[in-house]
Amino acid sequence: MAANNPTRRDFLKTAAVAGVGLTILPSGVLSGKNSPSDKLNIALIGAYGRAMAHYDAIKNENVVALCDVDEKNLALAAAKFRGAKRYTDWRKCLDEEKNLDAVVCCTTDHTHAFVAMWAMNRGLHVYLEKPMGITVEEVRLLRETYLKNKGKIAVQQGTQRHEKPNFNRVRDLVRDGAIGDLKAVYAWGNRQLRRDGYPAPKGEPPSRLHYDLWIGPSPFHPYSPEYFAGRPGVNCLQWNMYWDFGTGQVGDMGSHTMDIAWNVIEAGVPTAVEATGEEYNPEVTPVELKASFKHPANSWRGPIDVVWYQGGAMPTADLEGVDLNKIGHGVMFKGTKGFLISSFDNRIIVPFGDAADMTYYKPRPEPTEPMGRFQQEWVNACKTDLKTTCDFEYSGNMMEQLMLGLVAYRAKKPLQYNPKTGRITNDNAANALLSRKYRDGWILNG
Ligand SMILES: NC(=O)c1ccc[n+]([C@@H]2O[C@H](COP(=O)([O-])OP(=O)(O)OC[C@H]3O[C@@H](n4cnc5c(N)ncnc54)[C@H](O)[C@@H]3O)[C@@H](O)[C@H]2O)c1
Repeated sequence: MAANNPTRRDFLKTAAVAGVGLTILPSGVLSGKNSPSDKLNIALIGAYGRAMAHYDAIKNENVVALCDVDEKNLALAAAKFRGAKRYTDWRKCLDEEKNLDAVVCCTTDHTHAFVAMWAMNRGLHVYLEKPMGITVEEVRLLRETYLKNKGKIAVQQGTQRHEKPNFNRVRDLVRDGAIGDLKAVYAWGNRQLRRDGYPAPKGEPPSRLHYDLWIGPSPFHPYSPEYFAGRPGVNCLQWNMYWDFGTGQVGDMGSHTMDIAWNVIEAGVPTAVEATGEEYNPEVTPVELKASFKHPANSWRGPIDVVWYQGGAMPTADLEGVDLNKIGHGVMFKGTKGFLISSFDNRIIVPFGDAADMTYYKPRPEPTEPMGRFQQEWVNACKTDLKTTCDFEYSGNMMEQLMLGLVAYRAKKPLQYNPKTGRITNDNAANALLSRKYRDGWILNG
């Protein structure tokens, strides 16, 4: 489907680049497709909970539509964005709102790829909460679609910790040789949310909750209030461990923590993956998991191993006085001359060997600036050069890697992977694990 409002988008870009002083009109007055306002017309899909973290970044835009399957949450969001049209079905919202520029999506993980695909297919900019999808196929489709539309839309996966200054400090240190030549990267997360299986059916959904829409494209599971019992903003911890609704900690804290490494290593999709963990449960994603990925050399480094640990599995560091367990979510870079260990906010360098005197470290004259405010970067990109730090190419490669970890865990054997075709080359049956089946009536590429 073609972009629905190139005129408005071109106008916004030209105006922003030229620094034209625009008369900003109140929302509803001449807003929309051909409006002389430089505000984006945004649909906020999944309007409460995590969405509240985005209210500030979009409050000066035109939030013209709100969509939430829970009418109570919809009303809470509507109190903030008065005048926005309300929807409970995001498909209807995207089909009926003809003047949209952009979508901010904060729904459940199992609907992310759907909302993003429908939005991109309608020429809309997308801010999508992590994870981009819950299968390899979903993530690949989002990346491909974004790349086809790269000159037209701005997209960002919601790994907002990327704005922390530590991210680029770590990158500079490794790239400038503080640990010698990079050999391997180990990332971990210690969160453990154990469940035995889907919650037992209990009661009926309240009338304000459109439960069938909440289930959306996934196989039906009977209602339980447990799925909705969390605090706003962290309710995802009530459902993201179940295979039909999420990917557990791989896609949750894994997206954020692997991002510390991804910002440094300039990797694409891995060529081999193997994983071990606790016994497979067909209902619940693993708590304990170790997934190892092989990445070919690039222009500045040789081939490297990247390893993800979670739920009690941890890298071993034979470093006196260093206890990695004290860092809940962290990354350790191993080089020929030392280790760099990083949390989200801080880092330490541990040189090793007699020759480890740091003379090989040649810091750049000026450190790389932090990226600036994460959500604002996307808003600005929509109006100017369409460039975002965590677009669906950068994030898509990272998420495809993480999703492959779960595939290898389920396949229970080392897998060879062709990043170009997206196929496992040494075990044909394992290719079935790259995608999932959707309920009738739900179309991913719609
Ligand atoms: N970037 C971060 O740091 C961060 C932090 C927390 C959550 N998240 C992500 O945000 C998302 C939402 O998490 P949450 O804890 O707010 O979850 P939640 O269960 O509270 O859902 C958020 C809102 O979306 C609504 N919703 C659910 N499915 C919907 C659908 N199909 N259509 C429309 N509305 C729908 C819910 O009613 C709720 O109001 C998750 O994907 C999670 O991974 C990201």
